[in-house]
Amino acid sequence: MTRTPEYVSYAHMDKLHELQHPRSDARGELNFILLSHVKELLFRAVTDDLDTAREALHRDDVPGACLALSRATRTQRVLVACWESMNGMSVDEFVAFRHVLNDASGVQSFAYRALEFVMGNRPRQMVESVQEDGHPLLRTELGKPSLYDAALALLARWGFAVPVECVEKPPTEQHELDARVEDVWLEIYRHPDHHPQAHRLAESLLEVAYQFSCWRSTHLLVVERMLGGKNGTGGSDGAPWLRAINEHRFFPELWTFRTRL
Ligand code: HEM
Repeated sequence: MTRTPEYVSYAHMDKLHELQHPRSDARGELNFILLSHVKELLFRAVTDDLDTAREALHRDDVPGACLALSRATRTQRVLVACWESMNGMSVDEFVAFRHVLNDASGVQSFAYRALEFVMGNRPRQMVESVQEDGHPLLRTELGKPSLYDAALALLARWGFAVPVECVEKPPTEQHELDARVEDVWLEIYRHPDHHPQAHRLAESLLEVAYQFSCWRSTHLLVVERMLGGKNGTGGSDGAPWLRAINEHRFFPELWTFRTRL
């Protein structure tokens, strides 16, 4: 009997290659499925690094958090680059198999939602629907403060004037833009030499938020390229819905304080 090579058995490569089942004969559908799988796995890789960063922040370990955030950022750049490969498909190739998706849509991805939750985007309606019948991974995540909550808690422990409501709110509640938090970042950026660790953390967080927005805006461009003005398979009106989401910013005060610097 031939032995399965260790490379195959270690990471279950044989099972991995059994997961792609195009439903049509259309050229492009296999690549579409492969890229969807790659992105799902990379969502998880980023979430894992953000989780590591959050744990480090709980321990006041800013260098450890920044290391994990820089790893997350590298993976996020790969996620953005994945759209390049998807754009190799022409619109007629996409139309040839789009019908087999039925109502499948990325909006149903629990791995993507976990990533948004770790970052801190936890709109009330979404939280309620997850609490009702969401994926167990998402329910676990909602029991933890977000990465941004953890950063603000650390700054509060270090004596910055973070409002107590921001630190003591339940994790299911989303952080909302607060001018007093803006004041904290302003102080840090006015005197980076006095607050080198907090400044370094802010830069690392902003890069993660920036890369996230890059992913969203490139997704929107791909959607315009593939759908024009068509509705999405998930029930939205497509590009306009995604355009509105593109307005959202993670770690909001890290963007808004700049106006006052
Ligand atoms: C031809 C390629 C694609 C098109 C035309 C497309 C289209 C859309 C549209 C129209 C939406 C809005 C919701 C809806 O009505 O469906 C959406 C949402 C979404 N798509 Fe895609 N998509 C594509 C590829 C992908 C891929 C490869 C992924 C990653 C696995 C992905 C992940 C997502 C996610 C996570 C959302 C939800 C965004 C949010 O909730 O903010 N999409 N997509």
